[in-house]
Amino acid sequence: GRRSRVFCRYRGYVLPSDIVNTVVNDIPWFEVRPDDTWVVSFPKAGTTWLQEIVYLICNDFDYEKAQATTIEDRFPFLEFPYPGVKVVAQSPPPRFIKTHLPFSLLPKQLDEKKPKVIYIARNPKDTAVSLQAFTKMINYVTFLGNMEDFAQLFVEGTVFYGPWEKHVKEAWDRRDEENILFVTYEDLHKDFRGTVQDIARFLEKSMSESQLRALEVHCSFSLMQSNDSVNYSWQQGVLFGEGQFMRKGKVGDWKNHLSSEMSDKFDAMVTSLEPSGLHFVDS
Ligand code: PPS
Repeated sequence: GRRSRVFCRYRGYVLPSDIVNTVVNDIPWFEVRPDDTWVVSFPKAGTTWLQEIVYLICNDFDYEKAQATTIEDRFPFLEFPYPGVKVVAQSPPPRFIKTHLPFSLLPKQLDEKKPKVIYIARNPKDTAVSLQAFTKMINYVTFLGNMEDFAQLFVEGTVFYGPWEKHVKEAWDRRDEENILFVTYEDLHKDFRGTVQDIARFLEKSMSESQLRALEVHCSFSLMQSNDSVNYSWQQGVLFGEGQFMRKGKVGDWKNHLSSEMSDKFDAMVTSLEPSGLHFVDS
């Protein structure tokens, strides 16, 4: 039969109940290393795109090595049951760690060990559209409503890992800390090269012009869509049913999915963040 997922509220966030135990009991005490590299995001913000960029920059642009293993194994998802937080904890350094948890739910040692942490954010309209498509595709979540219903839950802050604006604001408020970098999906779209140069500088890695050019090609949407080490094809028929993880890869696809009334509700949510200096491009 169809399995469904139950959600809990924990310290202001909505979490899938199957990860709550890990989030409450294991992650706060997770031993952080200064040489870890963390990618943190709200789901569907461009996490996988950033993970592939970071992995290649930190591994001498070794495309064969990247190709040989899935991004899930090279750059594991901390709170996810696979491979599991205990396996991530024991993996040999340098470790690459993905998480969708907000800063306030990350390990306590993060502030003391100060590993490099990159947070990626995406405009909430496209995030919501991408998340709704993903929710329809994964077979461990059942959502019977339509896009507008889902978008309403998104602005109300009751989709998993929400409220979105709280998640993003926590990261934005820490953007000036020396071990934290804040980037956006829209930056990567508009200025891939400039954004990647900022990322490399932050990671203290050098990159030649030809390496940058090759990375731009490798990380283009069409090549990542057909790349079986990053496109989650290994989850097809396992965790995923019909649909593609690499769905559209556009800025502004929300215009094909959200009503103007709903768009206004998202604008109000973003406006609430603007006094902090945070703006999103969603055209
Ligand atoms: S997850 O499940 O939270 O880790 O998903 P995440 O990787 O954050 O987000 C998936 C969306 O990112 C798009 N994507 C890309 N866009 C442009 N270029 C590249 N290379 C790229 N790689 C992934 C992916 O298509 C999802 O967005 P949508 O809008 O659904 O297409």
